[in-house]
Amino acid sequence: MNPNEHAQPHPDACFDASWLALRRAADGAARAPELEARAAEWLRQRQATTAPPQRLRLIDLGSGSGANPRHLAPRLPGPQDWTLIDHDSGLLARARAACAGLRAADGGAVGVSTRSQDLARLDAGTLAGADLVCASALLDLVDAAWLERLADACAAARCALLVTLSVDGSWRFLSGAATTAAEAPPTAADDDLVRAAFNAHQRRDKGLGAALGPDAAPALAACLEQRGFEVRLAASPWRLRLAEPADAALARALIDGWRDAARAQRPDAAARITAWHARRTAECVPHGGGTLEVGHIDLFATPPRVVR
Ligand SMILES: C[S@@+](CC[C@H](N)C(=O)[O-])C[C@H]1O[C@@H](n2cnc3c(N)ncnc32)[C@H](O)[C@@H]1O
Repeated sequence: MNPNEHAQPHPDACFDASWLALRRAADGAARAPELEARAAEWLRQRQATTAPPQRLRLIDLGSGSGANPRHLAPRLPGPQDWTLIDHDSGLLARARAACAGLRAADGGAVGVSTRSQDLARLDAGTLAGADLVCASALLDLVDAAWLERLADACAAARCALLVTLSVDGSWRFLSGAATTAAEAPPTAADDDLVRAAFNAHQRRDKGLGAALGPDAAPALAACLEQRGFEVRLAASPWRLRLAEPADAALARALIDGWRDAARAQRPDAAARITAWHARRTAECVPHGGGTLEVGHIDLFATPPRVVR
């Protein structure tokens, strides 16, 4: 099969452009800026030791409509050449349009090309020549073997990785203006039920093996450390203020998704999950003072230095 062709994508690995647009502002606010600054500095040093200076080569895995390069390109040195990889050519067309005219932090040119490819076939050839491999909101979909292949391919390319916004499986509603976690049961117990069912549902195969879900970021850190990479992790939670219309819209979409997955996982608890959904949705209103926190982890890793 031609590497640019792929079988029909798994339905759980297909994402609406509207969902990606809905989450973009919250993602931008959540990302760990200290890891982005480290990535920028590492790329500057890499350029400084390359003669003559080369354009930086960046690869974004599971790029969707291009949120990651749109956020990162202006924060990293240039000139940059990005390759955006996804199995959804419709999203990649949006990404090309959205990334037109991007400039690097120093004003350098940013080139963007796209590749429609199933990441199931990720190997050393996919990442050959890369300086920095990136991904955002992708990692929960993959299995342990895929992480091993990713780490091997990055070790072969001697590139760094910046993998952001990987869910860690935690979320909680903070109620009222004081945003304390004090809540009367049974809501907290129902949150626990829905969270456990959702996290179990996340571990289903979504086309890249038995998904690691919330365990993926620490598992990738371990794979990279085994290969001599220096790894840094940072929390990057969404903090959605339910009185804000944009945050409330994202929270409602999340609550809907959690309900659907939890009911699929625990049909025996469907009535309780439906009642939970109604209560939590009712909190996403302009006069509500609550916050919904959703845990994510960002990871930045640099390859071992070559000793000559
Ligand atoms: C949650 S979206 C994140 C998109 C983008 N990185 C962002 O932050 O907005 C996950 C992306 O991974 C892509 N994806 C999932 N499984 C894939 C696979 N097996 N091969 C290629 N792309 C895949 C989806 O099409 C989708 O664009």
